[in-house]
Amino acid sequence: MAHMTFRFEDIAKVHADLISQLETIDDPAKLLKSPDLKGLYALIPQQANEDKAAFGQEVNALKSVIEQAVADRQNAAEEHKLGPIDITAPFDENSSLDDVALLPASEGSIHPLNRELERVLSIFEAMGFAAVESRQLDDDYHMFGSLNFPDDHPARDDYDTFVTEEGLIAPAHTSTMQNRMMQQFKDNLKNGDNIQVVVPGRCFRNEDVDARHEHTLHQVEGVMVGEGITVGHLIGTLKTFLEAFYGQKLEVKTQPAYFPFVEPGFEFSMSCPFCNKKGCKVCSQEGWIEILGCGMIHPNVMREAGIDPEAFTGFAWGFGLDRLVMMQYNVDDIRWFHSGKIEFMEQFS
Ligand code: PHE
Repeated sequence: MAHMTFRFEDIAKVHADLISQLETIDDPAKLLKSPDLKGLYALIPQQANEDKAAFGQEVNALKSVIEQAVADRQNAAEEHKLGPIDITAPFDENSSLDDVALLPASEGSIHPLNRELERVLSIFEAMGFAAVESRQLDDDYHMFGSLNFPDDHPARDDYDTFVTEEGLIAPAHTSTMQNRMMQQFKDNLKNGDNIQVVVPGRCFRNEDVDARHEHTLHQVEGVMVGEGITVGHLIGTLKTFLEAFYGQKLEVKTQPAYFPFVEPGFEFSMSCPFCNKKGCKVCSQEGWIEILGCGMIHPNVMREAGIDPEAFTGFAWGFGLDRLVMMQYNVDDIRWFHSGKIEFMEQFS
């Protein structure tokens, strides 16, 4: 008997026919019994020996495509039957959560930024700091004016801010809250207490986005004001916090830096907690990591908040939470945080 040659065209044609019938047919399962499909099976034994397996596989593949199409169609019909969900319908207390087919298969986890922020806040709370979140939309006065940035001063350009059409500012740092915190907790001073607040918050900068720069970042500001507060308290507070956070003794050092709202102002560095000052990838082989900006609150900033700088002194700092978390978990690109990628998040569950 002459062998039929291997004919992919036959398969493709039957496939196209069946799929087009699927659109109109009432009972899609009927297609699986279609004579055309049976015909293809009948052709298998007629193939040359060396073609039989390949031909058989093609026909089976076609059958699975149709089976899948049939299943999809049935599922769609089921969903249709359920109708739109009535969110006002009373909840059936006897139904089990297992009945809810759409529950995700696995549990979510806390975002690494939030998890570390919790740790940061609990350390500061243990040190007597209250926590208040910053605003995500603020104004020129809190971003600059209250912080001793003179009008049109070039230091304003260090913060490339987003501005709304109404002239509101997406804050570029959490220092926007310094004035508010001093106003809010001013009465503490009358009672002989200090003002001690940490302010976590989301900040926004018009950055050229890359692995180290994001338009959205997270800072933790700190403000402490009281009688006789000195640079020694500033350094001691930050060192205590960092040692608690990293669970080890650290060395710290400062170097002068300019921020209009502090005087003196510092860049604050810690010995690298990952290599014990030997030099590693995290500290770029320096042994030291510059971790934050800080300083003694400028008398003008105190006065602006209604606090007499002759009677009280204070300090403030601000650090980037993103960087802290990146170092902690070896995250190589800041853009992961807002990527919404499950693969990233799953590593923290
Ligand atoms: N707000 C500063 C920044 O983001 C950091 C800072 C805060 C410096 C408080 C001094 C005091 O660049």
